[in-house]
Amino acid sequence: MYFSLNSNFGMENKLQLLKDKAQQAMAAGGEARIASQHKKGKLTARERLHFLLDENSFEEIGMLVTHRSTDFGMEKEKYYGDGVVTGYGTISGRLVYVFSQDFTVFGGSLSETHAEKICKVMDMAMKNGAPLIGLNDSGGARIQEGVVSLGGYADIFYKNVQASGVVPQLSAIMGPCAGGAVYSPAITDFVLMVENTSYMFVTGPNVVKTVTHEQVTSEELGGASTHATKSGVTHFSCVNELDAISHIKKLLSYMPQNCEEIPAHLPFTAAEEARPSLNTLLPESSSQPYDMREVIAAIADSDSFLEVHKDFAENIVVGFARLAGRSIGIVGNQPAYLAGVLDNNASVKAARFVRFCDCFNIPLLVLEDVPGFLPGTDQEWNGIISNGAKLLYAFSEATVPRITVITRKAYGGAYDVMNSKHIGADMNYAWPSAEIAVMGAKGAAEIIFKKEISTAENPEQKLQEKEQLYAEIFANPYRAAERGFVDEVIEPSQTRSKLIKAFKMLENKVVNNPKKKHGNIPL
Ligand code: HXC
Repeated sequence: MYFSLNSNFGMENKLQLLKDKAQQAMAAGGEARIASQHKKGKLTARERLHFLLDENSFEEIGMLVTHRSTDFGMEKEKYYGDGVVTGYGTISGRLVYVFSQDFTVFGGSLSETHAEKICKVMDMAMKNGAPLIGLNDSGGARIQEGVVSLGGYADIFYKNVQASGVVPQLSAIMGPCAGGAVYSPAITDFVLMVENTSYMFVTGPNVVKTVTHEQVTSEELGGASTHATKSGVTHFSCVNELDAISHIKKLLSYMPQNCEEIPAHLPFTAAEEARPSLNTLLPESSSQPYDMREVIAAIADSDSFLEVHKDFAENIVVGFARLAGRSIGIVGNQPAYLAGVLDNNASVKAARFVRFCDCFNIPLLVLEDVPGFLPGTDQEWNGIISNGAKLLYAFSEATVPRITVITRKAYGGAYDVMNSKHIGADMNYAWPSAEIAVMGAKGAAEIIFKKEISTAENPEQKLQEKEQLYAEIFANPYRAAERGFVDEVIEPSQTRSKLIKAFKMLENKVVNNPKKKHGNIPL
């Protein structure tokens, strides 16, 4: 299929031979297949790398690799690169390792050698301490190769696990990603999908129809919006490939190169840090909603907030931001959605984010306004006990600087879980509007004054009296401040300046946890 080696000629011809081979590699699966890729609204593997990496920074590794398979006449059909472009380059001057699957060559399917190429850059990323970015667009296991392809996948999964917590791993899904292939992105730190041109599922619509008799399209079953809203498998649903690429670049900007480094601190000039708008942001009644994103916008450096998992478990907001140029991770209850209650999805979403930040030395800010855990059979039967415990565990084990600001409610077990002082937070602030108690005043009064209320001449009035009494005692931050569970009650307008100083104060924090092989987070 391609140029065969004839060593019987001089240097000029040898150079020509090299050029021809490179040209053939660049031609990928041929013009027709490239056109078909473009027709689907997709870029080619090399075009994606062109937009992802700094100009002229890409250095390819393994351009001339070909597959070794001989069954089904495969020895006659070979393409240089074997369906994946691998190498290294820079993004905003920072080293990254990349692989970009080429759908025009055997549908980007994974052969033994294709897997070896990916494993090679993964090893290099770990050895040299730089992020790994995978651009996935593949028909899955190379069907002509059978078990060696499955082995190749497992080799990648194993390395994904070895690399987890060592270097950031980002997966963009730019086309099909089905079968066991989904488990590599799933192990990585962030998954990005492109709307309408990418999908992920363990078994496709045909198998679903046979087994469960459900009729479902690929998009419904495993498209970007499905995974961004229903399963939480993807962290970002991007409108097109260029949007996905720009999200990758932005995400990386908050991260260090590896677990031994801290994220780059952007230059920052101190300015007026008071935010008077925060003094009037909260509604009159504590049962009214407000948008925690407004608090974040007022506290963080302007336009620095990158929300992660925006459309999944909206009762909790997580994302990266900068505070005086310093990269931080923010976890905030969202009173504007389900009153900011903690449920199964919110607990898992936040726990995973907290663990990522802790892996890569990104300090954590918690903005707390939580009425408790969501009651109900759905929650209990789906494991709110172990899911809530994940968040509790994730905060408790995190050794990065950790600060909490209680803006309003901090009720029940959720008070403990949301980065309380008791589980290792470094600084805990409360606004004067904070209510820190076992439960809301009405529920509390109904339980502890049950007899008094039921025997009262006017039970309704008695309940109100007792509710008022409980609220006076506990619906404030001062009981917690008297105990030192809250370090300072602050004016909301001062939040940003307090946080800037506190995170600076904590920048050399060292925690030595007890020696162990690894903990056993309740999965
Ligand atoms: C070899 C493959 C291939 C594969 C696609 N091709 N998938 N070659 N192995 N897995 C080739 C096709 O033969 C075709 O070659 C070219 O790629 C493009 O494929 P089309 O079918 O023409 O493209 P399209 O219509 O866009 O459909 C894409 C697709 C479909 C939905 C991905 O190709 C498909 O269903 N492929 C098989 C998917 C699959 O079952 N994979 C195995 C899953 S199991 P030509 O020469 O015509 O261009 C798995 C297990 C992993 O992956 C386990 C890990 C533990």
